Amino acid sequence: MSAAKSVRLDKLLANLGYGSRREIQTLARAGAIRLDGADLVDAGDRIALDPDLPDRLTIDGAPVDPLPGLCLMLHKPLGVTCSHKEAGPLVYGLLPERWRRRDPPLSTVGRLDKETSGLLLLTDDGALLHRIISPKAQVAKRYRVTLDRPLTGGEAAVFAAGTLMLEGEDRPLLPVHLDVADATHCAVTLTEGRYHQVRRMFAAIGNHVTALHRDRVGGLDLPADLAAGDYRVMTAGDVAAVFAAA
Ligand code: URA
Repeated sequence: MSAAKSVRLDKLLANLGYGSRREIQTLARAGAIRLDGADLVDAGDRIALDPDLPDRLTIDGAPVDPLPGLCLMLHKPLGVTCSHKEAGPLVYGLLPERWRRRDPPLSTVGRLDKETSGLLLLTDDGALLHRIISPKAQVAKRYRVTLDRPLTGGEAAVFAAGTLMLEGEDRPLLPVHLDVADATHCAVTLTEGRYHQVRRMFAAIGNHVTALHRDRVGGLDLPADLAAGDYRVMTAGDVAAVFAAA
């Protein structure tokens, strides 16, 4: 017998966005839902949430969507937003349409600005989301930065000091690590996630960020073969990498 939690089929599929419970019952009666190759005609049946369920449960012949506990890495392109409060297309529009009807919903793990590209995580697991963004976890984020004006040489020390104040704030930033690539290109690694932090850090020292791209969260790198606009379901190893020191 399986030790996995069990759930009513109609509830599971309704929460994955396949339709109302009534619609799921209609699908089941029509023979559209199969488990291990056999029709599941009663949507009130309970099924075990085994991790291999997506390989065994099909809807209209297609494997069922990933179960709750979903974690995604997305290569956020420029011009899409993480917040309903900002104008423009949302990152959620890059996901399959049905995934936008999931309950619990997918949320971004922190945010990237509309004009920032790179590695963005999304999950429906609230506890995991909080573990990643919690200041206690100290998950480092690395950003590739292009600047308007050449670096002067003192920036790394200023950022590392942990004394830099951003305009309108009353608490200095925690230390930020800076790696210089050339006069107008560098990488910064930070553990906080203050609003527009990288752009405001450079503004605070008289420079201006012209391009910003996040290429690492914790020990997880944006995969080189994940094109802008594409996403991938994270493995348990990917999630562990987020918490591993880079
Ligand atoms: N800092 C910024 O300024 N923007 C981002 O999107 C992330 C960090």
